[in-house]
Amino acid sequence: MKAVVFHGVGDIRLDDVADPKIQDANDAIVRLTSSAICGTDLHFIRGTVPGMKPGTILGHEGVGVVEEIGPAVRNLRAGDRVVIPSTIGCGSCSYCRAGYYAQCDRANPNGAHAGTAFFGGPESSGPFHGLQAERARIPFANVGLVKLPEEVLDDQAILLSDIFPTGYFGADIAEIEPGDTVAVFGCGPVGQFTIASARLMSAGRIFAVDTISSRLEMARAQGSEVVDFNVDDPVAVIRELTGGSGADRVIDAVGVDATHPSEGPAAKQAHRQQAQFGDAPSQVLTWAVDAVAKAGTLAIIGVYPARARSFPIGQAMNKNLTLQMGNCNHRKYVPMLIDLVRSGAVDPTNVLTQIAPLSSAIEAYKAFDQRQPGWIKVELQPAA
Ligand SMILES: NC(=O)c1ccc[n+]([C@@H]2O[C@H](COP(=O)([O-])OP(=O)(O)OC[C@H]3O[C@@H](n4cnc5c(N)ncnc54)[C@H](O)[C@@H]3O)[C@@H](O)[C@H]2O)c1
Ligand SMILES: [Zn+2]
Ligand SMILES: [Zn+2]
Repeated sequence: MKAVVFHGVGDIRLDDVADPKIQDANDAIVRLTSSAICGTDLHFIRGTVPGMKPGTILGHEGVGVVEEIGPAVRNLRAGDRVVIPSTIGCGSCSYCRAGYYAQCDRANPNGAHAGTAFFGGPESSGPFHGLQAERARIPFANVGLVKLPEEVLDDQAILLSDIFPTGYFGADIAEIEPGDTVAVFGCGPVGQFTIASARLMSAGRIFAVDTISSRLEMARAQGSEVVDFNVDDPVAVIRELTGGSGADRVIDAVGVDATHPSEGPAAKQAHRQQAQFGDAPSQVLTWAVDAVAKAGTLAIIGVYPARARSFPIGQAMNKNLTLQMGNCNHRKYVPMLIDLVRSGAVDPTNVLTQIAPLSSAIEAYKAFDQRQPGWIKVELQPAA
């Protein structure tokens, strides 16, 4: 079968690989009808999140049809249409049972303390072959596959695999209450769904910070008050427009690949911070801690490598902030979000800007990596 395979930093290829096989009693084999490229994949191909094993199939977003099930899978049949939550949880350990699927004790073959198990990630996450392929093996399929109703189309369902749940998770752990003022850093696909989720939670106002105009325009269309960090200092603007107090809830939807402003009033200050923290990755964390109101909540869903050490802890401590962060517990949110899409409350395809066949995945990666104008979310179709 065809699959997008990691060979090294900056070197991914569309290879012919062996079809997956059932290995455990609770496995299923899914024929993918839809996959996607995520900002997280970019960290791996840039090497900013290290540890990928050459030969690993990339991708952790998928929708498809069950082809085969192991003898322990009792809730599915061959032919069922399913969405695949990105993180892998066993469904029976104490963490999964409490909804912390991303902290499952059993799914990661490297042990209970090795970190979140997910598809198409670094060696420490399994590794499990990913979903940018024609077929995939899904472990713990009785929990790790969620059946789709007919009315939810593939183009909608693919956004329920990772980025809508992650955006919702970000808004959830930010403790958004009706009327709150929220600031979302990063208007990539995850940031867009964080904004959509903050609206579902009846946020009073939403600030959206980025510098890519097509992404800011999409955030504005969702009713956000937009800030281009190369035109304005985002912390100054958010404070000024909130009567000096800052935002009640702030979400970092950028992560380790944050860039510094290169122009505008924030640029000079950013260089000072660069000297203080030594690198760009802490830019959003620094802004977020400054932009949040005293005693407010900061949620971090942007991905940082395990070795990251830069966080403005002194400022956060002195402001009595609540910090929440982590990998999304996808499986906890997927069924509820499927219902929201089925009912028409949210159409996630507003964020989908490109659909490409799997055969042009490498070119699609390039365009997405360079954040070409208008490229916000790319769906890959393995069967096209
Ligand atoms: N926690 C989770 O479970 C989880 C799941 C999925 C994705 N993620 C992470 O969420 C983050 C966003 O994902 P995405 O697919 O939207 O990525 P993306 O790369 O498409 O979007 C990131 C956006 O941040 C903007 N940005 C860069 N520097 C900035 C700055 N200093 N201030 C404000 N905005 C800035 C970029 O212009 C870009 O639009 C990534 O780190 C990804 O790994 C986390
Ligand atoms: Zn992702
Ligand atoms: Zn578990």
